Amino acid sequence: MNAEIAFGSLQRTVDPALVPQRILYTGAKMPAIGLGTFGSDHVSAAEVAEAVEGAAAVGYRHFDCASVYGNERQIGHALQQISRGGIKREQLWLTSKLWNDKHGESDVIRSCRQSLADLGLEYLDLYLVHWPFPNYHPPGCDVSSRSNNARPYLHAEFMKTWRKMEELVTLGLVRHIGTSNMTIPKLRLVLRDASVKPAVNEMELHPHFQQPELFTFVQLNGMVPVGYCPIGSPGRPERDRTPEDTVPIEDPIIVKIASRLKVHPAVVCIKWAIQRGQVPIPFSTNRSHYLGNLEGAVSEPLTESEMRDIRSIDRNCRLIKGQVFLWKEGQSWEDLWDMNGEITPP
Ligand SMILES: NC(=O)c1ccc[n+]([C@@H]2O[C@H](COP(=O)([O-])OP(=O)(O)OC[C@H]3O[C@@H](n4cnc5c(N)ncnc54)[C@H](OP(=O)(O)O)[C@@H]3O)[C@@H](O)[C@H]2O)c1
Repeated sequence: MNAEIAFGSLQRTVDPALVPQRILYTGAKMPAIGLGTFGSDHVSAAEVAEAVEGAAAVGYRHFDCASVYGNERQIGHALQQISRGGIKREQLWLTSKLWNDKHGESDVIRSCRQSLADLGLEYLDLYLVHWPFPNYHPPGCDVSSRSNNARPYLHAEFMKTWRKMEELVTLGLVRHIGTSNMTIPKLRLVLRDASVKPAVNEMELHPHFQQPELFTFVQLNGMVPVGYCPIGSPGRPERDRTPEDTVPIEDPIIVKIASRLKVHPAVVCIKWAIQRGQVPIPFSTNRSHYLGNLEGAVSEPLTESEMRDIRSIDRNCRLIKGQVFLWKEGQSWEDLWDMNGEITPP
């Protein structure tokens, strides 16, 4: 089968059957690229929903949603349109996430049911615990915002949430459960104690933040690494910017490969991500951008030497530092990420 790439702009689409897939430990197949749906506090729910519909029309079948993005109801309407257009539910991969103020025993199932109702679905393919901390922050807050009862990662508490996540699988409301923003020491404990293992770990991954140790750990333990901010999140909220941040799409190596391929540097980031084995979930509301990213998933691969060159430009530059989730005074964001290999003590 050939990619339906007719170079007449609006007619261009990608045959979803050509998009690479990742096989999860259950045997389920997940499209190796999805569309992100976080409007970064400035792109409206309606615009994101329109992009979801447009992305399905050009060949996307995987959408990364979350209740905290505040747009699941609008995305639900887009999914109805997509279904009316003849795309069946089983052809789609839909992820949602449990927000931080719904950890614990009482709210997980209710919150998942709410996402299902908003999205107009009977089941999710994947449901993630969005962050390992139960610390809420409101949309649009600034970097100094802290939740009143902010707490650290407490494994016994996390497992109460995880048991409810497992129940969602038993109830048939979700097909897989997974984690997000985890570290190796936290994942070790979850893998030790889980009855239903996480199928994926969603984590920041781009050429300037390759997280080789966690990436390998995730894969070796039978999980798929899903990569957020795959392009370096140029539109991220102000609270997630610091002067030290680097810009992967301006890296000379990425720019050079992009000029060889005559694509935007963003597309190089996507090609690298898929070839490396992660599942990038780039956000875009611009048709030519999200189409270009999907075309990048099915076009000629990067050469081995290009892959090596990109491996060499890792800057260990975390963009989403998570300061708003800190739980006591005087901490720095590194405390969220267990930098010395042990869970940061409470
Ligand atoms: N689990 C978590 O905690 C977590 C955290 C952060 C993000 N996420 C998920 O990951 C998704 C992606 O992350 P992100 O949105 O922060 O960052 P991203 O995908 O790295 O970057 C998105 C930005 O790149 C631009 N862009 C996309 N494709 C482009 C192209 N081909 N050419 C030029 N510009 C392009 C978009 O602008 P245009 O709209 O103008 O194209 C948008 O501003 C989110 O939407 C969300 O679903 C999850």
